[in-house]
Amino acid sequence: MPFNTALTRKLGIKIPVVQGGMMWVGYAELASAVSNAGGLGLITALTQPSPEDLRKEIRRCKQMTSKPFGVNLTLLPAMVPPDYGAYAQVVLDEGIRIVETAGNSPGPIIKQLKAANPPCVILHKCTTIRHALSAVKLGVDFLSIDGFECAGHVGESDITNFILLSRARQTMPVPFIASGGFADGQGLAAALSLGAEGINMGTRFMCTVEAPIHENIKKAIVEAQETDTELVLRRWKNTSRLFKNKVTEDAVRVERESTTGKFEEVAPYVSGKRGREVFLNGDKDYGVWTAGQVIGLIHDIPTCHDLVHRIEKEALDTLAKTQSLVVDQQPEPDIVGRPIGDPSADPKSEHGKAPGEAQIYNIGKAKL
Ligand SMILES: Cc1cc2nc3c(=O)[nH]c(=O)nc-3n(C[C@H](O)[C@H](O)[C@H](O)COP(=O)(O)O)c2cc1C
Repeated sequence: MPFNTALTRKLGIKIPVVQGGMMWVGYAELASAVSNAGGLGLITALTQPSPEDLRKEIRRCKQMTSKPFGVNLTLLPAMVPPDYGAYAQVVLDEGIRIVETAGNSPGPIIKQLKAANPPCVILHKCTTIRHALSAVKLGVDFLSIDGFECAGHVGESDITNFILLSRARQTMPVPFIASGGFADGQGLAAALSLGAEGINMGTRFMCTVEAPIHENIKKAIVEAQETDTELVLRRWKNTSRLFKNKVTEDAVRVERESTTGKFEEVAPYVSGKRGREVFLNGDKDYGVWTAGQVIGLIHDIPTCHDLVHRIEKEALDTLAKTQSLVVDQQPEPDIVGRPIGDPSADPKSEHGKAPGEAQIYNIGKAKL
């Protein structure tokens, strides 16, 4: 059954579930599988070494799906920043009109994407209401509100989604989706109830058949608990949530004990190159890799089709169940002091107690 939210209407998708940009994971295989399943898949631009490679990847994705898909453009500080303008131009040239932006100073890129004819629909990801409001001024269409639970760059204010989403609902003049900590339809239903127009998931989509990473990493996610992530680089105000392993433990130790506070001391531990290798060689302890607290909720490795349809069904069931909690008339009170579900506590049950009469913890009879 299709959902009807600002997100599904704007993007022309059936189920309000977005696959967030993921470095070294967001290739055409995954993006097309999510889009084919009725959600929105995103190719991650910077997994491609050059804008021309991104063009090829977009074309590959077009071969794999006729459904809408988008591109993630992440703007991170770097000594030699990639040519973001050229990546954005390829996106436009290839006719892509859905872009997820993230990171610092997205103004010029958003301007470029919005100047296209027709303009891009932009989902901008942020971890604070302040940044979200700045992005609104830049003309973004949706905010993707990333709570502290999320994988990757969590920001520095540590506000989890229960607060952040309601703050977004209270303050945001544009629609928003909920990101960070989502893995199932109960989560989608909760996000919709809090005012979001859909959800964005990263870690959950990493653990699908189509995610182009080593099987051992998917198994590591299935085995992990919600406590198995680690925050690194807080000292440099670039806090990232990563899968807890030997390397993150070493990185955190260096971060804590360094007397110089020089980033160079921790840099070898958080090398992106080694992180990429993890996804290829399947050794979860080879380097650092990104994962969210939601790993505790992930217990299987389904196809994107099965996952997205399961989420759809769970969300519909949850919304229906929630609605059934509201009735025309207040029901008879449950028996005071008796555990709910105990059949002997039901005055109309075969135990045959007169209505209004009950046993209190088996110690005697009382009138209600
Ligand atoms: C392996 C991995 C790589 C990621 N890389 C990026 C990235 O390059 N750019 C970005 O905007 N977000 C990135 N993210 C964050 C996701 O897009 C998404 O916001 C986040 O995973 C949501 O939290 P969740 O994992 O609890 O669903 C990454 C997440 C993961 C798991």
